[in-house]
Amino acid sequence: MSNTQIRIFLGGDVFGPVGLRCAETILPSFLRDASIDFCVLNGENATGGTGISGPDALRLLAAGADVITGGNHSFEKRDYWPALAEMPQLLRPANFPPPIEEYDNAPPGRGSGVFEKNGIRYAVLNVQGREEMTPLDCPFRAADTAVSTWNAEEKPPVILIDFHAESTREKEALALYLAGRVAAVAGTHTHVQTADERILDGGTAFVTDLGMTGPIRSVIGVDPESAIKRNITQVLYRMELPETPGALRGLVVTVDPESRRAISVERIEIPEKA
Ligand SMILES: [Fe+2]
Ligand SMILES: [Fe+2]
Repeated sequence: MSNTQIRIFLGGDVFGPVGLRCAETILPSFLRDASIDFCVLNGENATGGTGISGPDALRLLAAGADVITGGNHSFEKRDYWPALAEMPQLLRPANFPPPIEEYDNAPPGRGSGVFEKNGIRYAVLNVQGREEMTPLDCPFRAADTAVSTWNAEEKPPVILIDFHAESTREKEALALYLAGRVAAVAGTHTHVQTADERILDGGTAFVTDLGMTGPIRSVIGVDPESAIKRNITQVLYRMELPETPGALRGLVVTVDPESRRAISVERIEIPEKA
């Protein structure tokens, strides 16, 4: 831990081979140089742009991620399901509907976890939005339940929320709903980094979207030419993955260990060296 403050890096959606390369080549030295104590990466697009495989999750953990969060693509790769079930540091959205016994429909894995590192306890919750997305259970209620439970503990953890959502209003609403009760609410999923990072009343860091760790010249990660062709023709042509320089994107949040609240935020975009 760096002196009296905790420094946390929240990294946005790792996308495809370029995103994996950025995580492996930029992240380790960044975490060291920026004195980061704890790192959460969203990995839902790491493998081929949709989903993440078990081996690619191990690559992100080896690069320095302490926790990998997910989103609407969490269950895309079947080989990730056993990894989700077995490894507590791999999260998927928490607000899937509860299982009904006769349908055996419990989604694999878990939506939150508490992780101890260098004497500090961090609670990470992954929730998914419902506006312009699959209508899961209410992310506000899911977050409220988890956050209330953690904050009622004798020694509550530093609480970090990855809100994987399309709607800016839903993201801002959840952040303000949780303001003063958690250290950070970071939006993911749109892949476009927003410039609204700030500390809400009560010491909760917030940004609408962390941005994507992936190819810079792309349409939210995919090859621009194939994306343009889709837009012009309205035919679902295959989306190609570009081979182009990428960037690491996310947010550094500095937290006071006593109050467990955010002191400062800094938006991060580190392009690959040419
Ligand atoms: Fe994504
Ligand atoms: Fe997503």
